[in-house]
Amino acid sequence: MALYSEKVMDHFRNPRNVGQIENADGVGEVGNPVCGDIMKIYLKIDGGVITDVKFETFGCGSAIASSSMATELIKGKPLSEALTLTNKAVTEALDGLPAHKLHCSVLAEEAIKAAVKDYYEKNGIAYDPKDFPASCDTCEHCH
Ligand code: FES
Repeated sequence: MALYSEKVMDHFRNPRNVGQIENADGVGEVGNPVCGDIMKIYLKIDGGVITDVKFETFGCGSAIASSSMATELIKGKPLSEALTLTNKAVTEALDGLPAHKLHCSVLAEEAIKAAVKDYYEKNGIAYDPKDFPASCDTCEHCH
């Protein structure tokens, strides 16, 4: 079996939603302590729904494919749904990632959460801190 699925290769070669959103309603930037890669997510939010999303990454191919897929999965969705997106769901949607690359998909999940949190904080919206675990709690790579 090839190391990377066709979906991973497709999203790596032709990533969706790359770029920035000017005047984004929420911006999240996270770094991976293991590899040093960085992910940034921009959200446009209207009435609690993600109307647009873009990402930028200084990350590996798996990080690019994961963010591309993650942005597709949350676009048009309510924030509550975006917050339940796990790196596992992203990985499954990509038909899998090699075990040593799973931590790359965590970056996408965390950056989305950070962007939603940023939106809540900017707008004085109360949120449950449990929806936003500290990054190293969610990254199995560090344990
Ligand atoms: Fe750093 Fe993939 S190796 S995100």
